[in-house]
Formats: sequence, structure tokens, C-alpha cells
Amino acid sequence: MKTINHLLTINDLTKTEIHELIAEAVEIKQKLKNGTPHQHLAGKTLGMIFEKSSTRTRVSFEVGMTQLGGHAIFLSPKDMQLGRGESIADTAKVLSRYVDGIMIRTFEHKTVETFAENSSVPVINGLTDEHHPTQVLADLMTVYEQKGRLEGLNMAFIGDGNNNMTHSLLQGAARAGLNMTVASPEGYEPNKQIFEEAVQSAKESGKAVQFYADPYKAVSGADIIVTDVWTSMGHEEEAADRLRKFQPYQINDDLVASAADEYIFLHCLPAHREEEVTASIIDGPRSFVFDEAENRLHAQKALLKKLMN
Ligand code: CP
Ligand code: NVA
Repeated sequence: MKTINHLLTINDLTKTEIHELIAEAVEIKQKLKNGTPHQHLAGKTLGMIFEKSSTRTRVSFEVGMTQLGGHAIFLSPKDMQLGRGESIADTAKVLSRYVDGIMIRTFEHKTVETFAENSSVPVINGLTDEHHPTQVLADLMTVYEQKGRLEGLNMAFIGDGNNNMTHSLLQGAARAGLNMTVASPEGYEPNKQIFEEAVQSAKESGKAVQFYADPYKAVSGADIIVTDVWTSMGHEEEAADRLRKFQPYQINDDLVASAADEYIFLHCLPAHREEEVTASIIDGPRSFVFDEAENRLHAQKALLKKLMN
């Protein structure tokens, strides 16, 4: 039986595959700008299941499929039998008989794993509580565009260490050969296993992944500064408590003073100005957040082509 290629975490990709995807994404972006046809998925359909809200992921996947000559179907569990108790396994088996690929955004990471185990077509993780791999492909592409390389750059993530973005960035940095620091308040450190694996894998390629409680230490010398919301989807009832605890981790002019001169700022969006980042930074000259959002489209088209062609 042919092995199906899924993208559930960044670790499903090798370093070479990450570089190939970025190169393809850069080429596809150029083709789109030049009006060169690139309908690699003519007649193919992507099913998209969203159990959480989305602006970028939904629109970029749907537009991406159209531009590739295919079609995407938005599926809300509210309207599907999934919402009335049909199992993940049966849903995966049935959808696989109709569509050529499935993208899911859900809560527990286990859900996408179960889905993939029961799917005969490629499954793409469009965000779980633990991972957000398609965002990190766009982030790495944006870094590559701005810096011309990935290898050896210093990335700092400041904020909620125990969320999907930190985990996928840790895997992405370790895979692609970046050094990475994470700074988070006590109780919001990255998942131990994901962190230790990133430390180990970075070490093997002569790089370093480090955790600091102090955001100033983590940002020192950084080429890329990244943050994310302090309250991720599903944690809304903790928002007031988090707002207090995360305050010292705000990305502001004072904090970034010790970063590299030409540092770039990234945020997967949506953002909360004057919470995790000041307007002076996110709307300032070192911010590339809208290129990053645009690159979701290009990076995912390269991914869809690789998985569904
Ligand atoms: N960055 C991101 O995934 O955005 P959406 O939640 O709008 O899809
Ligand atoms: N960490 C955020 C990312 C949103 C794209 C969340 O899960 O809500």
C-alpha cells in the first residue's frame, strides 16, 4: 500500500523538504504575480473542517485551491454529522471517498492523528492546541525572503511557550538549522517533550535551543522576534489572569533594544495591540506580519501541490 503523506506537525517534514517547499512557494508566488498559470491540482478537491474560528487559514487554503485549479469545501462540524456524534474515524473514511485532501483545525492534537489514521487521502493540520505547522512554513518562508537564508539565524519567541505556535516554531527552528530562545512566564513553559527534542536535534547540528524566564536575555542578539496572543482559542476564561502574568513579556521598544539591528518582527495574527505587542513594533518598519500572512497562501499552495498532486 502506498504511504500517505500527512502534515500533522513540522516533524513530518525533513530539513530538505522544508527547503524545497520554501523554494517552490517562492516560485509559485512569482508565478501568481506574473500571471503564469500553475493549475497543478485541476479537478481536485480539498475538504476543510474548522472546529475553531479562522480568517487567514480558511481564506488562504480556499483561494490557494482555486488558484491551483481545484476546489475547496468549507465544512463546519455544526452542520456535519460529526457535530451530532458521528465518529472521527467514520468521518475520515467517508470523506476520503470524495475528496483528495483534508485540512482540519481542531482542539486536541489526538483528533488530527485519529483522522489521519483513518484517512486514505493526505491530512493537513490547520491548527490544534499543540501545533500550527502551516503557519510556521509561512514564517520560515518570510524569514528566508527577508534574510536570504535560515541556517544559523537567531530566533526568539517571547510569550506563551505552551501554545501551538511555540511548539511548531521549536520544531521548525530545530529542523531548519536556526538557533532559538523561548521566554515565558512560570507555568507557561513549552511542552517538555517537544522542547527537549528540539534541544537535542539543534545540538546535533551545532545549534542551540534555550529557555529563559527573562525576556531580555532571550531577545539579546535576535534576528527574528516572534510573539503570539497571550490567550489562545479555547482558553478564553483565563484571559484576565494571563493578561497580568504576561505583562513583562510584551514586545515593546525597550525589550527589542538589544536585538540585532536588522531584526524582523513576526506574529501569526490575529494580534492584540498594546497587549502582547505595542503598535510601535507591529506597525513599525521591522514588522513583516502582513508578508507573513500573505505567505500562508504561497507556502500552502506549495504544500498542497506536494501532498495532493
Ligand atoms: N494565523 C492564523 O492561523 O490565523 P487564522 O486563525 O485567522 O486562520
Ligand atoms: N495561538 C493562537 C494562534 C491563532 C492563529 C491560538 O491558538 O489561538
